[in-house]
Amino acid sequence: MKILILDDEAISRKILFKKMEPFGECVAVDDPKKALSEIKHAAEKNTPFDLVTLDVSMPGIDGRQVLQQLRKNEQLQKIPKADRVKVIMVTSRMNTATIKACISLGCNGYLSKPVSTRQILENLEKMGFNLRDAQMKTDQSDHTEMVAEIIQRFYKGKIELPVFPHIVQEIQECLGKESSSTENLAKIVEKDIVIAAKLISIANSPLYKGLDTVNSLNGALLRLGMKATQGVISAVAARNLFESKNTSLKKVLEKLWMHSFATACLGKKLGEAMKLENTENLFLMGIVHDIGKMLLMKAIVDIFPETSVTDPELQLAIHEIHTTFGAALLKKLRFATIFIQVAEFHHWNTYPKGTEQQLMIINLADYLACEIGFEFTNFEEINIQEEKRVRITSLPSFKRLKLDPEKVLEICDQVKATIKESVRVF
Ligand SMILES: [Fe+2]
Ligand SMILES: [Fe+2]
Repeated sequence: MKILILDDEAISRKILFKKMEPFGECVAVDDPKKALSEIKHAAEKNTPFDLVTLDVSMPGIDGRQVLQQLRKNEQLQKIPKADRVKVIMVTSRMNTATIKACISLGCNGYLSKPVSTRQILENLEKMGFNLRDAQMKTDQSDHTEMVAEIIQRFYKGKIELPVFPHIVQEIQECLGKESSSTENLAKIVEKDIVIAAKLISIANSPLYKGLDTVNSLNGALLRLGMKATQGVISAVAARNLFESKNTSLKKVLEKLWMHSFATACLGKKLGEAMKLENTENLFLMGIVHDIGKMLLMKAIVDIFPETSVTDPELQLAIHEIHTTFGAALLKKLRFATIFIQVAEFHHWNTYPKGTEQQLMIINLADYLACEIGFEFTNFEEINIQEEKRVRITSLPSFKRLKLDPEKVLEICDQVKATIKESVRVF
């Protein structure tokens, strides 16, 4: 059987490729146009594809539109219904409306991320493919099932969600009032000695450092400003979420925290270089961009205590779903829309016109954090070779933001040199 896989995200594409390989000859592409032309050429050569998988959510043209175009072409070519290619939609959210829409557009089945071999087998069987040989070759690991189980529990409200300390909400309310002032803010912060002390250290850290050292809470608040204080306090609160009593989980979460913190610092510095107004938001976006991974790992250790969170296959399954999951989590925690978008789309590899600048900045910061040595997972270890690291300048977000490459490299060096000192105070 000939299979075509369309997914814009490199990791998802490779996961699906690996899972589909036992069933036939696979071709994987990252771009809808390439997919349609592959299908056309194969048909012209009389070696048509038997099966196509389409990722529903992609920037620009999405999976639904590809499906629509594909069916339209088949109609124009007068291909009998029975001979039309089988299409499976791949979605990261079990959204009945989307699935219904795809069925009416002519898809034959759907898979939900993280895609498990069981799901593929069920789909192919239903479509009438002969699977006897393939079944022997499939990898029956249950890591994806485990992640799927967590996702289900989350949507049913059966997962304990992280809570932010009350002070975060109090500050939000205070800043929301027209009469908000540094004095009012100080009154709230004063009540929490730990946070007050941290604010002073943070104001003196390389992230915010001024010419002289501040020694008082008022001095710290003046240096940080009201907006930054809010961001910093939220980040301090988020820091606690990366803690765990389980030793191996603690180690992994520490690494994730370093990655998130590096992304936050880079995001903030990039925003400053672009002279954007609210760079504090960028800092907090960096802190929470991979929050989905944090909660998934915690939940897995809670529910399946025997599991090793560092297992590469498990990490792949987590990676595949962390964006959708992170977005759903931030929505539940009532974060602003742009934060939810950042969690959901920070791994896109193209950014259509009109994309929020902040989203592209975090995409770039995330990439740069890995470049300067603060990557979270290295998927190369498990033989799923990451595409050769594209040079920073060829990144779509970089191009779109029109940054000066020298300036970006300077920011990288600066963050790399000061990160250890900055992270200590959080
Ligand atoms: Fe991520
Ligand atoms: Fe990340």
